[in-house]
Amino acid sequence: MEDELINIKTTALSFIWEAEDKKSLEETKLQFLGRSGKLTLAMKELPKLPIERRTEVGRLANEIKITIENALEQKQLDLTSEKTSKIKQSIDVTAPGIEPKIGHMHPISQVLHETIEIFKSLGFQVADGPEIETDHYNFEVLNIPKDHPSRDTQQTLFLDTTDTLYSPGEMLLRTQTSNMQGRIMEKTKPPFRVLVPGKVFRYEEVDASHGFEFWQVEGFMVDKNLSMSNLFATLDYFFKQFFGRDTKVKFVCHNFPFVEPGAEAYISCVVCKGKARLPDGQGCSFCKRTGWVEILGAGMIHPNVLRAVGINPDIWSGFAFGTGLSRMATLKFGMDDLRLLTNPDLRILEQF
Ligand code: DAH
Repeated sequence: MEDELINIKTTALSFIWEAEDKKSLEETKLQFLGRSGKLTLAMKELPKLPIERRTEVGRLANEIKITIENALEQKQLDLTSEKTSKIKQSIDVTAPGIEPKIGHMHPISQVLHETIEIFKSLGFQVADGPEIETDHYNFEVLNIPKDHPSRDTQQTLFLDTTDTLYSPGEMLLRTQTSNMQGRIMEKTKPPFRVLVPGKVFRYEEVDASHGFEFWQVEGFMVDKNLSMSNLFATLDYFFKQFFGRDTKVKFVCHNFPFVEPGAEAYISCVVCKGKARLPDGQGCSFCKRTGWVEILGAGMIHPNVLRAVGINPDIWSGFAFGTGLSRMATLKFGMDDLRLLTNPDLRILEQF
């Protein structure tokens, strides 16, 4: 019996010594100390021994059990610290870390935020509106009836309304953020100042200066006794804040059906600074050698528009302006192609 016990001890200790992980250590424990483990079974034989040997062999068996238990415990600790020291060895704490890439706002968003901040400082509130619009708000309210020639300049994408409650030609993708004039004015009591940035859509062939989907920002103000001077002063302030103090602004008569009188605003060319020539004496192709670039349409809100939204034009007056935010971005960053703004290539976007 003693030989058997010694044998069990030696094998158990050598198994424990060789165990490479916690799983095999656990198996060894079961194999020797489990319910039907070798030592457990051997100890069950003790009562069969003659009484005078029982105490002595029993003591030996207990000692062996304690030795095995201690060895198991120690190995368990060794395995844990071995693992951590292996991990420690594989980490070079002095190695430089991987620098996380930090992005920045898209050029359109930068321009959008800057525009909003400038107009907010002038007391304008910012509004948002639907891109899928009715003919009513995109055209009719704006004094552009069905047969108006100015519709030709707004290549409109109409929606297929088959199987809907809308009649053909009634639903469209908005061609201008001016669509929000009617929506806001009919619900708001004057006086108010509103800025509406948003995406617009047109059936345009895409080239360096045209897109089928681009950003605009519309602004309008309704109050008593407003005049073209208020409009000019507001826009002059905005352009100088946005493009720089030296920016010159000029207004030229233009017709838009929803304003009377109407105007187009030009700013001094951002590339040649209004000189129409580049430093090398060459003519500036960005402004087609005129020194000016067209930037925005504006005017005094037409009395027909005010009437259509329930505002009395004999009491209230208003001005409105609308500009391409995408165009403002290309002018601000000196891009020569509108398509750069929708190109997802980071090598391009990182430059702005
Ligand atoms: N909505 C016009 C367009 O897309 C731009 C515009 C012109 C807006 C004159 C205005 C305005 O508010 O008064 O071409």
